[in-house]
Amino acid sequence: MMPRNLSRRGAALMFAALAVCGIAHAQAPQYQPREYQPGKDVVWVPTAQTLVDRMLDAAKLTASDYLVDLGSGDGRTVITAAQRGATALGIEYNPKMVELSKENAKKAGVSERATFLKADLFKTDFSKATVVTLFLLPEINLQLRPKLLDMKPGTRVVSNSFDMGDWTADQTLDTVDKCMTYCNAFLWIVPAKVDGTWRSDDGQITFKQTFQVVSGTMKAGNVLAPLTKGRLLGEDITFTAGPTTYKGRVNGKTIEGTSTTGGQDKPWRATRV
Ligand SMILES: C[S@@+](CC[C@H](N)C(=O)[O-])C[C@H]1O[C@@H](n2cnc3c(N)ncnc32)[C@H](O)[C@@H]1O
Repeated sequence: MMPRNLSRRGAALMFAALAVCGIAHAQAPQYQPREYQPGKDVVWVPTAQTLVDRMLDAAKLTASDYLVDLGSGDGRTVITAAQRGATALGIEYNPKMVELSKENAKKAGVSERATFLKADLFKTDFSKATVVTLFLLPEINLQLRPKLLDMKPGTRVVSNSFDMGDWTADQTLDTVDKCMTYCNAFLWIVPAKVDGTWRSDDGQITFKQTFQVVSGTMKAGNVLAPLTKGRLLGEDITFTAGPTTYKGRVNGKTIEGTSTTGGQDKPWRATRV
C-alpha cells in the first residue's frame, strides 16, 4: 500500500534508497586493525603466519590439545590451532579484535573449535590449557611466569620474541621465512616440581630445582654423591649420581624409571619423603 500523497516517482526513489541502505548494511566493511594500535597492556602486532605455524609445530600441537593465546589479536594463532584439529581459545581485551577474530574463524570454518573471549588476560583462568601461546612483552611474561610454572607439568608455552628472564627456554626457534619483524620464538615445557627429599632404591635423594635444572645429592650409607646433568622436561627427569644415570617420569609423589650403570639397566623408583 502506498500513502495517498506519495507520487509513483517518490515511491521509486524511496525503494531505491532503502535498497542501497540494505546493500551497504550487508557489505559493512570489516574492521581493519592497524599495526601498533594501542592495546590494554601491549600494542597489536600480528605474528607472521610462518612463525605461527612454526610455533605450533614446536609445541607439537595435536587434536587433543587445548591451546590458549593470551592477547589473541586477530585470532590467527587460535584459528591455525583449530585448523589443526585442536580446541583453542583466544583471550583478547579489544572488543573489535574479538569480533574480527570471530568473523575470521567463521570464514575459516572453525568457529566450533576456535572461540574468543573479550577479557583481560591477567584476570582470566587459563590453567586448563595444554599449550599457551603469547606475544606480549618481557615484563608481562615475567608477571605471568608464576602462573605458567603452576600449570600441569608438560604444558607447552611458546612466546613470540620475548623470553622469561632466568627461566631459560627449552628450545629457541629458528627465524622463519616471510617474516619482517619479530621472527623468532621460544618454547618452554612446564617442569614437574621435585625440589625436596626423596627416598629411592639407591639411597636418599635431595633435589634442588631451579626451573628445569636439577642438582642436589644422593646419600647411600656414608657416601654422598653430587647429582650432575640434572634436567626436567615436563614430567621427564634425568640425572647422574656417581657412575649411574637415572631416567624417570615424575607422577606427583613418585618417580618411576630406569637406572643405568655400566650399560646395565634396572627399574628404579623414588617416593617423596
Ligand atoms: C602483540 S599482539 C599479539 C596478537 C596475537 N597473539 C598474535 O600473535 O598475532 C598483543 C595483543 O594483546 C592484546 N592485549 C593487550 N593487553 C591485553 C590484556 N590485558 N588482556 C587481553 N589482551 C590484551 C592486544 O590488544 C593485542 O591484540
